[in-house]
Amino acid sequence: MDDGDFRTVLEFFGLAWHGYRKVRKVAKKRLSRLMASCEAASVRAFLERCRQSEAIREEALRALAVPISRFFRDRRLWIVLETEIVPGLIRWSGDPLRVWSAGCARGEEAYSFKILWHEVAARAERVPSLELWATDFHVGFLEAAAEGVYHRSSLREVSSDRLSAFFAPAGEDRYAVSGFLKEGIRWRRSDLRRDPPLPSPVHLVFLRNNLLTYYEPPEQARALRRVVKSLAEGGFLVLGSRERPPPGPWPLVRCAAHPHLFRKVTLWDSCRFE
Ligand SMILES: C[S@@+](CC[C@H](N)C(=O)[O-])C[C@H]1O[C@@H](n2cnc3c(N)ncnc32)[C@H](O)[C@@H]1O
Repeated sequence: MDDGDFRTVLEFFGLAWHGYRKVRKVAKKRLSRLMASCEAASVRAFLERCRQSEAIREEALRALAVPISRFFRDRRLWIVLETEIVPGLIRWSGDPLRVWSAGCARGEEAYSFKILWHEVAARAERVPSLELWATDFHVGFLEAAAEGVYHRSSLREVSSDRLSAFFAPAGEDRYAVSGFLKEGIRWRRSDLRRDPPLPSPVHLVFLRNNLLTYYEPPEQARALRRVVKSLAEGGFLVLGSRERPPPGPWPLVRCAAHPHLFRKVTLWDSCRFE
């Protein structure tokens, strides 16, 4: 598949060419395999199949899904969460505290939060119950997440103390998260572009390295509107390190504590601050 064909497929799905710059080769290979399996000799024929069949459309989107992640990705962010944001949420949120890892891939982000929560809660006097949702539109990734076994390359930001407290060796170069970390995580299949929002209000949403990287601005805006709607006023939204909200207005202000952390305010407040 050449770049022109790949671009045509991305456009069809509202996906962004530049988002795929590092994973183009793999994505093209997966698409070519899918085209062969549905006997489409050209991209035109393949897109025709996609128009006719929701199942093929879904399969194509899954072929284009990128699960790259790791534990405690963006170390500085996790320090800010640990020292400022989560202790503040414990005081302010009420019960339960709702956290959502949206586009969670194989669960690295959700488990990272669970580890942090475990540590912060042990130091706090009184903690609300935690409702941790982790969603993705790719069922295969969610199954891997629930299993919780990882190659050591995705654990390179995990300290040795955390490694021994929260993981057990699981064969060559692999580690399994401890059973107690898995408890209570609500893994759900959900497509950010069209499925109903989670029970709200959500107090902290991780929306990193998915919607705002791989989709074109109109798709981004439609889905982000729904994510922001589910956020509690005063709640936090975490974006990836190369991401920013598409052209607004958005009821969000950037937090001084970290450049990829936003707080939901009223629209009037966001005009005053941004
Ligand atoms: C690169 S991973 C990011 C994982 C994690 N958030 C992180 O930053 O490390 C992107 C994930 O977003 C998921 N994704 C992409 N589009 C989605 C959509 N429309 N709805 C739900 N999940 C989606 C993919 O399946 C993939 O697992």
